[in-house]
Amino acid sequence: GIPKFVKIVEVGPRDGLQNEKNIVSASVKIELIQRLVSSGLSVVEATSFVSPKWVPQLADAKGVMEAVQSLEGARLPVLTPNLQGFEAAIAAGAKDIAVFAAASESFSKSNINCSIEESLVRYRAVTYAAKELSIPVRGYVSCVVGCPEEGAISPSKVAYVAKELYNMGCFEISLGDTIGVGTPGTVVPMLEAVMAVVPVEKLAVHFHDTYGQSLSNILVSLQMGISTLDSSIAGLGGCPYAKGASGNVATEDVVYMLNGLGVKTNVDLAKLLTAGDFISKHLGRPSGSKTAVALSRV
Ligand code: HMG
Ligand code: MG
Repeated sequence: GIPKFVKIVEVGPRDGLQNEKNIVSASVKIELIQRLVSSGLSVVEATSFVSPKWVPQLADAKGVMEAVQSLEGARLPVLTPNLQGFEAAIAAGAKDIAVFAAASESFSKSNINCSIEESLVRYRAVTYAAKELSIPVRGYVSCVVGCPEEGAISPSKVAYVAKELYNMGCFEISLGDTIGVGTPGTVVPMLEAVMAVVPVEKLAVHFHDTYGQSLSNILVSLQMGISTLDSSIAGLGGCPYAKGASGNVATEDVVYMLNGLGVKTNVDLAKLLTAGDFISKHLGRPSGSKTAVALSRV
């Protein structure tokens, strides 16, 4: 059977906004995070402490984190690609961080400017420093089924990187279909390979909806015992270093499906919808959530 409770990791303020060309003000980001937390989401990824040359949209990470760090009711992890980012995150009040590796050599190079092995060396230093401060570290693996440059990625490569992140102390490993090319046909064998080396309760799945496969991929993941799902309010998102990648699966659509399955999330769909309206209006375009569009008509 599928899990009775699912933890949703909301990535909209980070994965969702990082790809927006027009700079969204820090005050809008802060209000979005507040609204997401008050909808009941227990984890809201707030921002990234990355190079502002690589991701200009998140150059205000310090101000955003300082403003939200004392919000209660949710964990607010931030992405840190190296010790420099880790130190800046901690100084701004972050209490949870995430490191992000890839299962594709080309994507590692284009996203974080180093090889997979070099990234693992960096992340060992980051997880070591985090452990000293009792800061929990999430580990991401990108391109778990496909890479924009290399095409299909072998499940054994994903399992290798996931296991390395787990061994260095990551409490949770999120498996990212960065460009949204996976189907249940490729996701199932990938999960089987990873579940052979990392306990299923330590795994999360992170689907982008480029080909409209996210909810199907989520359903098969739930059937395999995964109980942590990443999603993005209003389906915002994409990766600036993954050409053609579209938004993450919309949080509203995930909650609608889980409600239908009788799976508990503790998320209030009505409040979530208003958070989605808020950011969609601000960005000046319709929501990428089918549930939000449908419910706005009834
Ligand atoms: P680099 O150029 O190799 O870095 O970039 P460097 O160490 O050589 O330093 C160069 C400059 O960057 C220096 O500044 C550093 O101070 C600065 P300068 O002297 O030139 O003025 N720098 C930093 N500044 C702020 N914060 C930092 C930092 N580190 C160095 N932490 C680096 C390497 C990793 C920094 C860069 O490639 C980078 O920031 N990449 C991040 C890209 C990114 O955020 N991508 C999106 C997130 S991943 C994703 O979306 C996938 C995911 O959603 C899962 C999925 O969908 O699969 C997680
Ligand atoms: Mg992503």
